[in-house]
Amino acid sequence: MESPAPAKPTTPDLRFIAQGASAMLYDRGDGHVLKIFRNSVSDEMIAREVAVSVHANTVGLPTAPALGRHDGEEGRAIVYPYLEGPTLMAWLRRHPVRAGWALEQMADLHRRISEAPAGQLRSLKQVLETDISYGPAPMAIKQSAIAYLRTLPDAPILTHGDFHLGNIMMTDAGLKVIDWSKAAAGHPAADAVRSEMLMRFGEGPDDAITNLWRDWAARHLARCYLTSSTFSASDMSMWRPVVALAWLRARQAGRAKSFHRYLNKAMAQVNISPILI
Ligand SMILES: Nc1ncnc2c1ncn2[C@@H]1O[C@H](COP(=O)(O)OP(=O)(O)O)[C@@H](O)[C@H]1O
Ligand SMILES: [Mg+2]
Repeated sequence: MESPAPAKPTTPDLRFIAQGASAMLYDRGDGHVLKIFRNSVSDEMIAREVAVSVHANTVGLPTAPALGRHDGEEGRAIVYPYLEGPTLMAWLRRHPVRAGWALEQMADLHRRISEAPAGQLRSLKQVLETDISYGPAPMAIKQSAIAYLRTLPDAPILTHGDFHLGNIMMTDAGLKVIDWSKAAAGHPAADAVRSEMLMRFGEGPDDAITNLWRDWAARHLARCYLTSSTFSASDMSMWRPVVALAWLRARQAGRAKSFHRYLNKAMAQVNISPILI
C-alpha cells in the first residue's frame, strides 16, 4: 500500500515539482529544491542518499549533491541544487525517435558509475541476501539461491541500485543521475541487470505497445553496456537469478507473468529450480 504523503508544506513560496515513490519534490525558488520524504522511508535510507550523492559528486559523476538536511514540520527533507530539465523518461516521450541515442548516453553514464569507488557503502551481496531471505520465494529456493550468491565475486564499485529513466535528468549540461538511496558496493554487472529489469518490468505503463518498447530498450541498453567491456554477457547471466529473486521482495505488481518467466529462466541457467505458480 502506498504510504501516506508528507503534509503539504505550508511555506508559501514552495512550488510542487514532482513526486517519486519515496518523496515529493518542491522548488524553493532560490536555486534549490526540497525532497520531502514519505513517512515510510527510513532515516537510514535518507542518510545514505545524502552521503552517496555527495560521494558521487566528489568522484566526478554528474549529479546533484545534497546540500544538507531540512527537517521541519513538513517532514524530513534533503536540500538539493535545482536541476533544470526533464527526466530522461519525459524527454523520451517528446523525442521518441532519439531513443537509441538516449539509451547510449544512459549506458555511458552507467559505465562512468561502474568506474567509481564505492567508498564506505554497504555490500550489495549482503543487500541481495537479506532481500532474498525476507522475500516470498519457497524456502528451498531461497536456500539454494543464497548458497549460489555467496559464490559470486564481490567488488568495491559504486552501484546505483535504481538506475532507470526517471532517475536520470536531461539538463543543458548533459545527463545527471539522481536518487542514490539504494546505492551499494558491488559488481557493476549486478547493477546492469537491475536496470534491465527496471526497464522491462519496473513501474510505469505496461500496455502491449509500451512493453514491446520496454523490451527493445532493455536489449539496446544491454548491448550498449556490453560494448564498453566493463563486464560480459556471462557476468550479467551470473547475477540475473539473484538480482531478480531479491527484487521479488519489493516489486510492485505488473507484467507478473513475463517477470516470472524471466526469473525462472535466469534461475534455470544456474541450476536453481523454478518457482511454480
Ligand atoms: N534536483 C532536482 N531538481 C529538479 N527536479 C528534481 C530534482 N531531483 C528530483 N527531481 C524531480 O523529482 C522526481 C522525483 O525525485 P527522486 O529523487 O527520484 O524521488 P524518489 O526517491 O521518490 O524516486 C524526479 O523524477 C525529478 O522529476
Ligand atoms: Mg526516483
